[in-house]
Amino acid sequence: MSTRTIRFSSKATQFYFDSSFAVLEKKVSKENAVLITDDHVFAAHKIKFKGWNTIVLKPGEQYKVQQTVDVVINQLIAFGADRKTFLVGVGGGVITDLTGYIAGIYMRGIDFGFVPTSILAMVDASIGGKNGIDIGVYKNMAGLIRQPSFLIYDYSFLKTLPHNEWQNGFAEIIKHACIKDAAMFKELQLNSIAKYKRDKVLLSALIQKNALIKAKVVVGDEFEQGDRKLLNFGHTLGHAIENMYELSHGEAISIGMTYAALISQQLKFFTGTAELVALLHRYGLPTVADFDQAKAFKVLLKDKKKDHVSIQYILLTKIGKGVVQPILLVQLKEIFKLF
Ligand code: GLY
Repeated sequence: MSTRTIRFSSKATQFYFDSSFAVLEKKVSKENAVLITDDHVFAAHKIKFKGWNTIVLKPGEQYKVQQTVDVVINQLIAFGADRKTFLVGVGGGVITDLTGYIAGIYMRGIDFGFVPTSILAMVDASIGGKNGIDIGVYKNMAGLIRQPSFLIYDYSFLKTLPHNEWQNGFAEIIKHACIKDAAMFKELQLNSIAKYKRDKVLLSALIQKNALIKAKVVVGDEFEQGDRKLLNFGHTLGHAIENMYELSHGEAISIGMTYAALISQQLKFFTGTAELVALLHRYGLPTVADFDQAKAFKVLLKDKKKDHVSIQYILLTKIGKGVVQPILLVQLKEIFKLF
């Protein structure tokens, strides 16, 4: 096990890498805690939940909505949860988002921690404190920024992770490589999901590296005034098309990264589009899509990174170097027409 403490503005979060679910008992007592998970994780790892108060939700992004929040809050009331109750989200990004959000509003805020069970949650969704819900097709439209007390990494959860979920997680890993880490981009070019599944040491090092890339960016800019925006590489278009077409998050941002690379080619003389496309394909991710541009543009106009005239798009100057680029909306509309 390797433990790292990351200090955010209002909280120090402990990261237990290469750890075990059993560590949870050292962090919180069974009487005081309520675990939130989904059907898939619960069915595959029932034994781990023995003796814990657990709320089991239906899996899927379509349940990351206010109605689920109301259901969970009613169950917390039924459990007699109070301000000292500790919530633990055990699952992928939907579960960690819901848990963090509910912990932020239940009785005006209670403590919480995460046991991320998917690659995507381990390297991205459980880190950073942004927790929220979708409103219609608008992703994460309601939410807050509030940090968990701990994250416990138990890689035994990955044994039952479906292959498409590995691809989802690697989309975020490739994103980190694109914006921050050219050496990791090279490492990914030499390996594959199959190799990471076989080589636990390699996988564990990759997960830790990515979790720390994300945490470091967030620590430097927790409330997204600058560098944190880079983490949105591929997400501007990605979020717009994700719920429109019921794409997985990885598929959506993979397409979003490809379009962002093409825009980078035009505005930043970026020359790595072919390399990026090849890497995304290597990890089973899509790079092109037929989508209703006018409709996607309309959804994109609701993006949180936009003002009346421009949007802050994340582009690449080279592999490993992301930049925030304001683009006039009229200009972006014209660029989109070219693809
Ligand atoms: N919960 C994901 C983030 O804060 O970016």
